[in-house]
Amino acid sequence: MFDRLREDIAAIRARDPAARSVREVVTCYPGLHAIVLHRVAHACWTRQWRWLARFVSQMARFLTGIEIHPGATLGRRVFIDHGMGVVIGETAQVGDDCTIYQGVTLGGTSLTRGAKRHPTLERGVIVGAGAKVLGSFTVGADAKIGSNAVVVKPVPAGGTAVGNPARIVVPAVAKAKETKRDDGFCAYGITPNADDPVSLAIHGLIDHASTQTQRIDDIVAALERLGARVEAMHGIDGAALVDLKRLCTSMDGKAEAVDER
Ligand SMILES: CC(C)(COP(=O)(O)OP(=O)(O)OC[C@H]1O[C@@H](n2cnc3c(N)ncnc32)[C@H](O)[C@@H]1OP(=O)(O)O)[C@@H](O)C(=O)NCCC(=O)NCCS
Repeated sequence: MFDRLREDIAAIRARDPAARSVREVVTCYPGLHAIVLHRVAHACWTRQWRWLARFVSQMARFLTGIEIHPGATLGRRVFIDHGMGVVIGETAQVGDDCTIYQGVTLGGTSLTRGAKRHPTLERGVIVGAGAKVLGSFTVGADAKIGSNAVVVKPVPAGGTAVGNPARIVVPAVAKAKETKRDDGFCAYGITPNADDPVSLAIHGLIDHASTQTQRIDDIVAALERLGARVEAMHGIDGAALVDLKRLCTSMDGKAEAVDER
């Protein structure tokens, strides 16, 4: 128990630059108090002492402003910063090393008793202040949810979701690299965004241009095999031609810069 407390305190000191001492963390961090009381409530819940579990949870809410249902599963080193207004539902699962800011709701959208109604946050997820994550889907490891986002769909590991309804603005770069094509053309290197319509349109245009370029190269090669002299065409409006590989490389650089941030 003390080991868990020690690592909770260390996690808070590591993740909050405002935390200056152990004494300050132990006495002035309602997120820590809520987590400790949740462990008591959760232990009661799993022993089927349901009323006592709810009562402890409500006491914790009264003292900290953070409501965690005793049935919710919290991992290790979860940090609820400031905490006021946080609500974590009964079937929510919060992975190790997650950070949750004030005003966050991990809520349900279904009324089916006994079903999993609330989200699962995998390890290392950060949920910004005021964000609502609603439904029984998974937010992948190390994903970030922007403040005030309303998330109603799964978020891929490493992705960043913002807005209402939330869209993915910074996808997992590892995933982007997987989608790079063999010929070096990386349509998903720019902002490989599964949801954003502007991004989807750009990806479509780049894919289309790439396919056209490939077909023209094939036609030129076929004509040359038939004896036609097509090199004269290279000079035509050369400045206006888009170097797709170069475009792709610069987009890739941009994506990597985003990843480094
Ligand atoms: C979402 C968040 C994690 C993104 O951080 P990041 O990875 O550094 O990403 P960026 O700041 O480069 O933002 C990426 C894009 O999302 C937009 N964006 C960032 N946060 C946003 C938000 N909360 N709502 C809407 N759009 C947001 C940016 O404007 C940017 O858009 P652009 O590419 O069109 O310019 C961060 O902005 C955030 O909201 N963190 C929560 C912080 C918080 O709650 N603090 C409380 C402390 S008490």
